[in-house]
Amino acid sequence: MALEIIVLAAGMGKRMHSDLPKVLHPVANEPMLFHVLRTANSLNPVKIHVVLGHQSQKVAAAIEELPEGLRQKLVLSIQSEQLGTAHAVMQALPNVTANNEVIVLYGDTPLTPKVDLEHLLEALKFNTMTLLTATVDNPFGYGRIIRNEAGRIECIVEEKDATQEQKAIKEINTGMIATTSDVLKEFLVQIKNDNAQGEYYLTDLVGLLVKAGRAVGLVNATNPDLLAGVNNKLQLSVVERLYQKQQAERCMMDGLTLADPARFDLRGELTFGHDCFIDTNVIIEGKVVLGNNVSIGTGCVLKDVTIGDRSVISPYTIMEKSELKEHTTIGPFARLRPGNVLENEVHVGNFVEVKNSHIGEGTKSGHLTYIGDSDIGGGTNIGAGTITCNYDGANKHRTTIGKNVFIGSDTQLVAPVTVEDGATIGAGTTVTRTVPANALYITRAQPRTLPNYKRPTKKKKA
Ligand code: UD1
Ligand code: CA
Repeated sequence: MALEIIVLAAGMGKRMHSDLPKVLHPVANEPMLFHVLRTANSLNPVKIHVVLGHQSQKVAAAIEELPEGLRQKLVLSIQSEQLGTAHAVMQALPNVTANNEVIVLYGDTPLTPKVDLEHLLEALKFNTMTLLTATVDNPFGYGRIIRNEAGRIECIVEEKDATQEQKAIKEINTGMIATTSDVLKEFLVQIKNDNAQGEYYLTDLVGLLVKAGRAVGLVNATNPDLLAGVNNKLQLSVVERLYQKQQAERCMMDGLTLADPARFDLRGELTFGHDCFIDTNVIIEGKVVLGNNVSIGTGCVLKDVTIGDRSVISPYTIMEKSELKEHTTIGPFARLRPGNVLENEVHVGNFVEVKNSHIGEGTKSGHLTYIGDSDIGGGTNIGAGTITCNYDGANKHRTTIGKNVFIGSDTQLVAPVTVEDGATIGAGTTVTRTVPANALYITRAQPRTLPNYKRPTKKKKA
């Protein structure tokens, strides 16, 4: 018996007040649905069925971004009218192979833990169907678990159909079930829509099976908080924080020091060596790799970067798609745009922007500078206010600076241009042609001194 998973994602999510379909709202920068599909895939099913409905084209287009391996397993079905969760499952059923195990998941419950689903499958060995339940303080909105005098499950009653007495029950249905395709084929057709919402409830399967004398097993969720469905932006923010808390805890257990796990946002993948420190309000996106003893200051945003051992990134530095070797010191307030390689000991200071450039070992650029499309050798000093003029209004050009060069403050390098090894550029210079090795190059108007100069004075008002 192989496993197939059905993910329900047809609902429109009215309460999100958004043009974006509910299941595409992001948790840690990624659609909720993707989280569910990844968890589904981690159970190694042969197929993952996704039931789409509201804005199905948008959701189907988003799914195209998933990695090939996962996408191959997806089978899409369309539920053109949202007539309820049982009706939704029925849309996928024709594509499900006979006599397979089936798990049903919700696209709006992104943190559903794998371990709970494993428990559902284990318990399925002794039951016709298993159901993930939880006991919560506030059961409002959930289907309630109704038990008979012997304590055996009888059925599920939805909030809108529940009596006052039933509403007080705190044992709820999380929505996740495991059963077989044969059971679904036999029993889903028997479900009726004679209820408060006029919908075909998947939850009615429980009552039908119990009546038919089949065993329905209840499995307790390991952490009920993770099974909160997202119906509005408030719940989305709660789920986001929960997810971030999980990630922060995992990172700390692996040895990362976080100044405050409640102010840490990992929206991608982070790997790190030993003794790394991340201060408050840092955002990590894409794939970020830190070596050993790396320190990230408050307010930094790091996206797709690799940072070598002993590097110190000072506060409010923004960097993207760059590789920093060992013992680099960056910021505060530096900006690394895509395409940089910074060798060991490079220093990029405050209000310095670097783009698509290679900077050699030990080279320093401390203040107020733009380095774009440049190749700079090692041991070079770039003075404050240096600008590589890389754009002529139509095309970009490269600037080449050798090693052990000294660029005086307030220099413009009009690319394409080369400054050879050991050259010195006087402050205030505009470089427009090749500077030979070890030369001094300077463009500067002759100074004039006018003695006893009288400054203009303010005119008296009439
Ligand atoms: C459902 C359960 C309830 C459970 C709760 C847990 C039913 C009848 N009720 O209620 O017992 O406690 O989840 O969160 O199953 N969907 C479709 N097509 C439809 C209707 C829904 O694809 O026609 C999808 C939605 O997109 C969503 C999921 O099914 O991903 C759940 O639907 P929703 O309307 O949110 O169900 P709840 O009222 O929350
Ligand atoms: Ca829901």
